[in-house]
Amino acid sequence: MYQKPKGTRDILPAVMHRWHRMEEEARKHAARFGYREIRTPTFEETALFTRSVGESSDIVSKEMYTFEDKGGRSLTLRPEGTAGAVRAFVENGLFNEPLPQKLFYLTNNFRYENPQAGRYREHTQFGAECLGIASPLAELESLDLATSILKGLGIDIRLVINSIGCPECRKNYNQVLAEYAGKHHDELCEDCKRRLKTNPLRMLDCKNEKCHQLWEKAPKLTEYLCPECKIHFEEVQKLLKANKIDFTVDSFLVRGFDYYTKTVFEFQASLDGKTLAFGGGGRYDNLVEELGGKPTACVGFGLGLDRLVLLLPEIKPNGLDACIINAGEIKAEQTYPLVRTLREQGLAVEGNLAERSFKAQLKYADKLCAKYIIIIGDAESAGGFYTLKDLRTGQESKVSQEKLVKILKEI
Ligand code: HAM
Repeated sequence: MYQKPKGTRDILPAVMHRWHRMEEEARKHAARFGYREIRTPTFEETALFTRSVGESSDIVSKEMYTFEDKGGRSLTLRPEGTAGAVRAFVENGLFNEPLPQKLFYLTNNFRYENPQAGRYREHTQFGAECLGIASPLAELESLDLATSILKGLGIDIRLVINSIGCPECRKNYNQVLAEYAGKHHDELCEDCKRRLKTNPLRMLDCKNEKCHQLWEKAPKLTEYLCPECKIHFEEVQKLLKANKIDFTVDSFLVRGFDYYTKTVFEFQASLDGKTLAFGGGGRYDNLVEELGGKPTACVGFGLGLDRLVLLLPEIKPNGLDACIINAGEIKAEQTYPLVRTLREQGLAVEGNLAERSFKAQLKYADKLCAKYIIIIGDAESAGGFYTLKDLRTGQESKVSQEKLVKILKEI
């Protein structure tokens, strides 16, 4: 028997309604906020990700699914959606259209991670990117969209924000942090020793408990912001407060991507006793230019559907409108024309392809969460009527085809 690859999952029909619920809610709010859908390739040139996400990030250094195609090109399965969306923005000249360009996507991403609760090697994100706005109003609208989706889904989680400044602020801070880390060199984990050489800021993102304790006492990045970044961050906080979007500031939130500038944020909650991000994003003002476009300020976020589904309240699947139940000598081929007629009326109806016994058909209707059953037996066939039973109330009535359609369409 073949098994699915490690870290991947089958999402089975019994829970699919939960996924549809999240996707529909996200699409609904995206449309209200003027975001338009974009679909980019599942794989891209490897350099796109190394350039944007950053060589020293965990994603690029450890987690990418990279392969050479038959033409000798190095390609990588998309580990995240921002790089592809920005590449498409530049390559297709979307910058020539009025700005901001507000793009959203619902896509699967691939990261070679250690599988555990809420962490998989293939995961799905709803992502939203606002390209072309430097003002803190873009952070406000972006976070307004994210929190509206979460609220619509009945999920109440903590929003944590920080500012990691511009490359200039980070240059100064990296020096200060490297000095601090140097004094504690022997206590650092192997990853942090590597990060100290390549990108000291990444050390703050370390999941190692001992390192984490060290960073809690380290100098804070927000104290090293240049005046422009400092004002920007204050303005973001002022706007969020004025619009009653709750947040806390975590000065150690840095996020694992090189493309971020100024504001970064995460939606966090506990899972199995560990703090986990259910969504994350931030501003990335230099990425468009780094990928060959004109300077374009941007903000975006990704919500992780594989994690959010774990927090989603119980919801009932949207079952079929009706199941046809054949009784007596009646065969499926005789009742199939009614199935067709009802489907043509826009109703979700199941016949009896399997030619089951009466009892088995009732069980099947129940399994499919049908609201009604339509019984067609010898008496119904001879009398030209149908027996309609409402499975929610148990009420039964004899009806004509016209009445049947009318009742089912009123559901
Ligand atoms: P990210 O924080 O890497 O950001 O991913 C966003 C969300 O995807 C995470 O908060 C998490 O819920 C989910 N996620 C990430 N990795 C996994 C995994 N291995 N298994 C399950 N869920 C996962 C980004 O990807 C950025 N592109 C977001 C962004 C958009 N920033 C600006 N624009």
